[in-house]
Amino acid sequence: MGLIDTKRERAKRNRRRIVLPEGDEPRTMKAAETILAEGLAEPILLTPASIAVDAKRLADYAALLYGLRKAKGLSEADAARLAADPMYYGMLMVKAGDADGLVSGAVHSTGDMLRPALQVVKTAPGMMLVSSSFLIECRNKSLGENGLLVYADCVVNPCPDAEELANIAVATAETARKLCGIAEPRVAMLSFSTKGSASHHLVDKVREATEIAHSLAPDLLVDGELQLDAAFVPEVAAIKAKESPVAGRANVLVFPDLQSGNIGYKITQRIGGADCFAVLQGLASPCNDLSRGCSVEDIVNTVAATAAQI
Ligand SMILES: CC(C)(COP(=O)(O)OP(=O)(O)OC[C@H]1O[C@@H](n2cnc3c(N)ncnc32)[C@H](O)[C@@H]1OP(=O)(O)O)[C@@H](O)C(=O)NCCC(=O)NCCS
Repeated sequence: MGLIDTKRERAKRNRRRIVLPEGDEPRTMKAAETILAEGLAEPILLTPASIAVDAKRLADYAALLYGLRKAKGLSEADAARLAADPMYYGMLMVKAGDADGLVSGAVHSTGDMLRPALQVVKTAPGMMLVSSSFLIECRNKSLGENGLLVYADCVVNPCPDAEELANIAVATAETARKLCGIAEPRVAMLSFSTKGSASHHLVDKVREATEIAHSLAPDLLVDGELQLDAAFVPEVAAIKAKESPVAGRANVLVFPDLQSGNIGYKITQRIGGADCFAVLQGLASPCNDLSRGCSVEDIVNTVAATAAQI
């Protein structure tokens, strides 16, 4: 059974309420029909008109938003205006416990979805930041974990510092365990240098992040800095990083910044022909982003993955 099929099975068992704030978008409406028909979740389609029907609830959500953001300078009038926006309304539903998760992005950009998620749903207790995992299914089953790899962060944090990078590594290992069933995540902290082969402040950041990750999760197999080939080609690892517990057999790849991560997953997808699928990690409730070029099936699968994250 592939990764997506596993998510669908778990989603059916969970039967969560997932908000779709782009409720009048044709692919989203079609996806909601499939989600209902297959019993993957209870989709809640939002539109400005459907929101306006329940004035009491809208006022409650506006008050909730005002309470969350007044210290940041949000006025009551702006809270009322924002709460009527389906994206904010959807996030407020999740915050209030009236929905279990949210999926959007067929129309909105990643930043337009992330900002309200960060402001309203916020990070889960104990999490320093929100980031993403890309679940990668390769055709070559000798790579990673039977062809399965997890990349991070390819979506959220443009320029993580060493501490943030360490947190991304630990959170991604957890996602690999929980969502991909990888019992032993082996995390490679990627760079253009392997174990001191190059000197640069960018390499120093990756080395420092590796040390912090060790202190955050002493039992986690995490090593760096490693080049991509040293991370998962055993012959190269034997030459460049013989002592490493991760080199040559990594199944989780942590990129040093968003430029390399985003480019890296797209090369894997477009040139390598792998199936790539992103989830956000670190939010208090699961909210996930779609690509604006998404298909109906992508929306259905993302809703299933969101329901399976809970
Ligand atoms: C994530 C992102 C939207 C944050 O936007 P931003 O303009 O930096 O927003 P702000 O700095 O105003 O942050 C908004 C809030 O989110 C918080 N925040 C920002 N990034 C965060 C993160 N990774 N985790 C947790 N909180 C975060 C801020 O602390 C701030 O909180 P506050 O308002 O309560 O103080 C921005 O970094 C971004 O656009 N990332 C790239 C997304 C993208 O285009 N990806 C493309 C690949 S598909």
